[in-house]
Amino acid sequence: MPTFNADQLLSIAVQVLEGAGVPPADAAVVAAELRDANLVGHDSHGVMRLVQYVQMIDDGFVKPGGEFEVLRDAPAFAVADAHFNLGQVAATRALEIAREKARAVGTATVMVRNCNHVGRLGSYTHRAALDGFAAQMAVNSPGPGGVAAFGGIDKKLGTSPISMAVPAAGDAFVLDMTTSATAEGKLRVAFQKGERVADGLIIDGEGNPSTDPGDFYKDPPGAILPLGGPLLGHKGYGLSVMLDMFCGVLSGSGVARDDLPRGANGVWLTLLDIEQFLPKGEYDGWVARYIEHIKSSRRMPGVDEILLPGEIEQRRSKQRALEGVPIPEETWRQIRETAERLGVELAP
Ligand SMILES: NC(=O)c1ccc[n+]([C@@H]2O[C@H](COP(=O)([O-])OP(=O)(O)OC[C@H]3O[C@@H](n4cnc5c(N)ncnc54)[C@H](O)[C@@H]3O)[C@@H](O)[C@H]2O)c1
Repeated sequence: MPTFNADQLLSIAVQVLEGAGVPPADAAVVAAELRDANLVGHDSHGVMRLVQYVQMIDDGFVKPGGEFEVLRDAPAFAVADAHFNLGQVAATRALEIAREKARAVGTATVMVRNCNHVGRLGSYTHRAALDGFAAQMAVNSPGPGGVAAFGGIDKKLGTSPISMAVPAAGDAFVLDMTTSATAEGKLRVAFQKGERVADGLIIDGEGNPSTDPGDFYKDPPGAILPLGGPLLGHKGYGLSVMLDMFCGVLSGSGVARDDLPRGANGVWLTLLDIEQFLPKGEYDGWVARYIEHIKSSRRMPGVDEILLPGEIEQRRSKQRALEGVPIPEETWRQIRETAERLGVELAP
């Protein structure tokens, strides 16, 4: 498998995006998000997305350089229209606005409609946490879904992820998870590698349990199960329905529905400026004791350490920064093919 370092990944992504007509400043933002997703180990949200993004630009769905228009503006909230620019650019702007407002009045919520795929939510909440905020971000996916409703067979809902992050011990706790049993991108990675997926993640087109990611793409198509799988999926399903309401309806983006175009995100971002809620020393004291409390647990056989949310990504990021990021042959072939089509001679 070809292996790239962080700078090479960034450079590849910038070249492809600029080749597809993305303004350089925006290409740099998106490329950094893709690189960082690879670094933390979420390859499903890394440079493999370049192929999809370029296709979406070609199809006219993604509109590079689209204006970030603030439609409603108040001290503690804003509603914006990203006019289908690349989602990472819009989410980065939303984060800047939320930061300014939350610093000024303690808390702020920013909703974004017509925003394309923002990538990995934990990237934005993590950055906010490192700046002293408690952050929550969630997105829905208007349009046809990939996830079954609890008890259903058909694809009805998006994988609607939610992330929450807070500062902790010099870094942050970062929860970042889909409300489905798996992210769709992870199925695509398994499919491209020719691997099977774990039990309880997907069903085939007739509703039978399956571990073959190919079943998801067949006709009749299979579906991803809601988080919790066959037994506890009512919880993931319930969360997903609520995120369609918060992220989709309140942002004005739209909800999971077969007659709406697919591919965008409705964004809900809320920040709380922690020091306006309690003194920093008090906050840090609570968190330090909490980490001790969790980490001191007796462990199941085969478990070396209890990890906190986000810790696995933080460790992988350090490791991959040293060792590089292996990119599957098929992903690399598709990226090169896309670059060639754009007339870009990739110089990593
Ligand atoms: N923009 C979009 O439309 C979209 C849609 C779906 C998913 N996503 C992104 O896909 C990514 C993958 O989501 P996922 O649900 O597959 O993530 P995941 O299942 O790998 O991780 C979920 C959470 O569990 C934590 N975790 C993992 N292993 C752990 C362990 N052993 N102990 C303690 N905590 C642990 C992680 O830190 C993370 O916070 C996310 O970054 C999400 O934002 C984006």
